[in-house]
Amino acid sequence: MQDYREFLAEILIDENTLQTRIRQLAEEINRDYAGEEVLLICILRGALPFLVDLMRHLNVRVAIDCMAISSYGTGARASTGNVRVTYDLQTNIAGRHVLLVEDIIDSGHTIAHVLEMLHTRRPKSLRVCALLDKESRREAVVPIHYRGFVIENKFVFGYGLDIDEYYRNLPFVGVVDLQKYKSE
Ligand code: PRP
Repeated sequence: MQDYREFLAEILIDENTLQTRIRQLAEEINRDYAGEEVLLICILRGALPFLVDLMRHLNVRVAIDCMAISSYGTGARASTGNVRVTYDLQTNIAGRHVLLVEDIIDSGHTIAHVLEMLHTRRPKSLRVCALLDKESRREAVVPIHYRGFVIENKFVFGYGLDIDEYYRNLPFVGVVDLQKYKSE
């Protein structure tokens, strides 16, 4: 596997900056849900490291569950109709405070679809927490209650974000130099 240093154009958000912002988001969540219980939902797979780091700073009662989404075709999703659930929640969310955790929101179609679907299951509340927001790419209107960083439209990787399924383990968010990246 290619060493990421060979195609890293820049470190967009370093580890320290990420972790500081995640602590701030956790503080907001702690304040908003004080005295309540919250069910964190990890949208697999990219949100894994973010959810794990975030939950470690939460002092409200927390439960977690996961769901996986896929889209037909490749590249950016064309419409919400192209999004489907490949692994559903194992938890009944009726009457519970639900917080969806995402690594990145791009077109917004994935999260829009998940929100629409989960609303029908009658949670007590349903909010979105996203680490990265490629705001300029938005096609669907989606509420983001807790947002880490607004980023430009660059191909980013690391901290949950993959390139061909690898490099999710890196502790920072980097930008790929596509001319230098060699797919296997
Ligand atoms: C990414 C990301 C969001 C979605 C955002 O997932 O984690 O779920 O794309 O795109 P959208 O706003 O345009 O819908 P991806 O399909 O890459 O899967 P992964 O999390 O397993 O990497």
